[in-house]
Amino acid sequence: MKPIKVGLLGIGTVGSGTFNVLKRNQEEIKRRAGRGIEIAMVADLNVERARELTGGECDVVNDANLIINNPDIEIVIELIGGYGIAKDLVLKAIAAGKHVVTANKALLATHGTEIFKAAQDKGVMVAFEAAVAGGIPIIKALREGLTANQIQWVAGIINGTTNFILSEMRDKGLDFGTVLKEAQRLGYAEADPTFDIEGVDAAHKATILASIAFGVPVQFDKAHVEGITKLQAVDIKYAEQLGYRIKLLGITKRTPKGIELRVHPTLIPAKRLIANVEGAMNAVLVQGDAVGATLYYGKGAGSEPTASAVIADLVDITRLATADPGHRVPHLAFQPDAMSDTPILPMAEITTSYYLRMNVSDQPGVLADVTRILAEHSISIDAMLQKEPGEGETRADIIMLTHQTQEKNVQAAIAKIEGLPTVMGSITKIRLEELS
Ligand code: NDP
Ligand code: HSE
Repeated sequence: MKPIKVGLLGIGTVGSGTFNVLKRNQEEIKRRAGRGIEIAMVADLNVERARELTGGECDVVNDANLIINNPDIEIVIELIGGYGIAKDLVLKAIAAGKHVVTANKALLATHGTEIFKAAQDKGVMVAFEAAVAGGIPIIKALREGLTANQIQWVAGIINGTTNFILSEMRDKGLDFGTVLKEAQRLGYAEADPTFDIEGVDAAHKATILASIAFGVPVQFDKAHVEGITKLQAVDIKYAEQLGYRIKLLGITKRTPKGIELRVHPTLIPAKRLIANVEGAMNAVLVQGDAVGATLYYGKGAGSEPTASAVIADLVDITRLATADPGHRVPHLAFQPDAMSDTPILPMAEITTSYYLRMNVSDQPGVLADVTRILAEHSISIDAMLQKEPGEGETRADIIMLTHQTQEKNVQAAIAKIEGLPTVMGSITKIRLEELS
């Protein structure tokens, strides 16, 4: 059987990894796929560099439309990124009856509904294993391996750049800017690193995970997005003293009222495996009603780790290209006519525990005022740490960990406590998940 012909749009970090791994492992991949997989055309703005990377082994063009209009190409891999030209090209490829593989989480989290509908109507596949957690096959696991389960929640370290930054800052005492530059040099960070450090990239991925876990449409606009730029070193230190690590988590949970979908720095017990995921590594913890907790760990970014996921999709498509579209695994794990309209909850309605740090006057009655306000808002304290004032100082840091409560209760209590004359400045609030 002739090899299936593939067109690659964008031969940057992931594109070059895909080209190289496919070439290196072509015999083994062919034995698995049942057919050779050949990158026949590459489109990139930098044609010279693309020619160098491909060593004259395929056609190189600077106009991606030439690939989409080529009837011999059956699969298009989109590795350009962003929502502009990439969206246009993906929709054109689908309209031309080509299967699509993409690592573009930004595109799918924001325009997934339109893209999956177009693919469904045309009977083609859109595969996106590389879009979440790079080389970790978490899409496959959630969509197929855990298909027996009612998924209860998913919590993951799904941005390597921020995990790398948090790890390096804690371990080596390096400053934020230095570590960010290193993450960019290593190819982890997005073209615009604000997407990484402000939590947007993780929220794109969490949005996709929520859809597959619960069978709801992709709704990035409803996700709560909070990055690590406001995180202070002192909170990392106090968290450690209380037995916790701070990680940027993407969390999605099924609750009786709706679905929680949020990304924010989170305290997690230091003894959990996921708390010990360091550097640019990713990990995703999935809680299913039948299987219990399962943990997936590996490289979430980088040229060849991400290529590993891209090529897994190529193999899947090669195997299923001739199958009746109705017999393929649905894009979002649930049949398109069986999607749920369960709402994504506003942040005020979520339930979790909290780390609260406040700076107070070291005088009698202050703690009593604070705990009274917390009690009035149905917030119960789980643990407390008071830092003794230094020599000649009259103020002290108090750190409290709460039991689970609703976010709106905490917001109201914080507003009241900040109004006390004995409390200085604003209160630092970081959410806490036991993940048990
Ligand atoms: P790069 O910026 O390294 O590569 C993108 C490539 O696309 C560049 O070579 C660029 O050329 C080329 N390009 C830009 N516009 C066009 C166009 N109109 N036509 C053809 N080629 C074009 O990005 P990455 O490889 O890092 O990322 C690709 C995708 O993979 C993104 O969606 C990203 O979010 C995702 N991803 C990346 C991971 C990683 O570790 N890097 C991990 C997981 C997902 P030029 O450089 O000349 O502009
Ligand atoms: N910028 C992303 C990260 C790349 O740091 O995880 C992988 O999606």
